[in-house]
Amino acid sequence: MFVIAGVTGNTGKVAAETLLSQGKPVRVLVRDAAKGESWKKRGAEVAVTDLDDVEALTKALKGADGAYLLLPPNFAFQNPRADNGKRTRALFEATEKAGVRHIVFLSSVGAQHEAGTGPIGAVHDAEKIFSASKANVTFIRAAYFMENAGNSLYALDAGAYPTFLRPDLKVPMVATRDIGLVAAKALAEGGKGRTVIELEGPQEYDQNDVAAALSRLTKKKVSVQHGPEDAMVPALTGAGFPQPWAELYREMTHGVNTGHVTFEGGAAQHVRGTTTLETVLEGLLAARK
Ligand SMILES: NC(=O)c1ccc[n+]([C@@H]2O[C@H](COP(=O)([O-])OP(=O)(O)OC[C@H]3O[C@@H](n4cnc5c(N)ncnc54)[C@H](OP(=O)(O)O)[C@@H]3O)[C@@H](O)[C@H]2O)c1
Repeated sequence: MFVIAGVTGNTGKVAAETLLSQGKPVRVLVRDAAKGESWKKRGAEVAVTDLDDVEALTKALKGADGAYLLLPPNFAFQNPRADNGKRTRALFEATEKAGVRHIVFLSSVGAQHEAGTGPIGAVHDAEKIFSASKANVTFIRAAYFMENAGNSLYALDAGAYPTFLRPDLKVPMVATRDIGLVAAKALAEGGKGRTVIELEGPQEYDQNDVAAALSRLTKKKVSVQHGPEDAMVPALTGAGFPQPWAELYREMTHGVNTGHVTFEGGAAQHVRGTTTLETVLEGLLAARK
């Protein structure tokens, strides 16, 4: 039986749907019982638990051949790295107590680095903690989500695509659908020791490519509106992000722009998803209507 966290979110939803479509037994974790109803109808078991509740989580993970876990952002965390560390240790304790045989953990490009990566530092720490597990562990180091472009669509009517990333810098990007598919495959295959999968989409893209794809899809000229990194913290706090998170996102952006946030290579498996940027943008545009 496979336990899947984050099923109301991007990647967990796809992982759970994929395993169910293959006739595999699935138990989904939800915080709100009402959000479990549609999963029950599709044949999944539902466990109601918060990821921070070690006792309930241990119960929900009991008997799992594999579990898909992630560290969702919590903007109420005042000290995100330390607070995420606490959450990770709760997750780890629950998986160990429950005797989960294989953990598939959503990590990130750049997670090999201790510092200079903003919010990615939390999954660096999580990789360290889970590497000590009795279980087999697969870390999916996902590239920059294509769906992040959705945060910039507010300026589309003005023909602009605002970004703090360097417009001409090709970076690995991936659709969240491909992450869910790779997570489901990893769970179904079972793990062996510690595995790192570095996952990106069919090709690298730069921010000019994103704007060009938006132009094609909207049949309107869309141009990159490049913001300097120094403007990022005021812009994000102005948009309601707490200061510590705004600073982390700035650090991550600097890390991407300078090539620090990149794949490690080496022993890691390099996997490419098939979903294109255009497909993701098409979905994001349709969701705005
Ligand atoms: N954005 C990027 O470019 C990028 C790149 C690499 C890796 N990542 C990683 O990807 C993660 C996000 O993955 P995603 O897009 O699949 O998730 P998502 O769409 O943001 O959804 C988060 C999921 O976690 C659940 N959740 C949140 N807090 C919870 C809690 N305390 N207890 C139980 N469940 C909780 C949410 O359920 P509710 O319905 O209850 O809220 C939701 O199902 C990030 O946190 C980051 O670690 C991101």
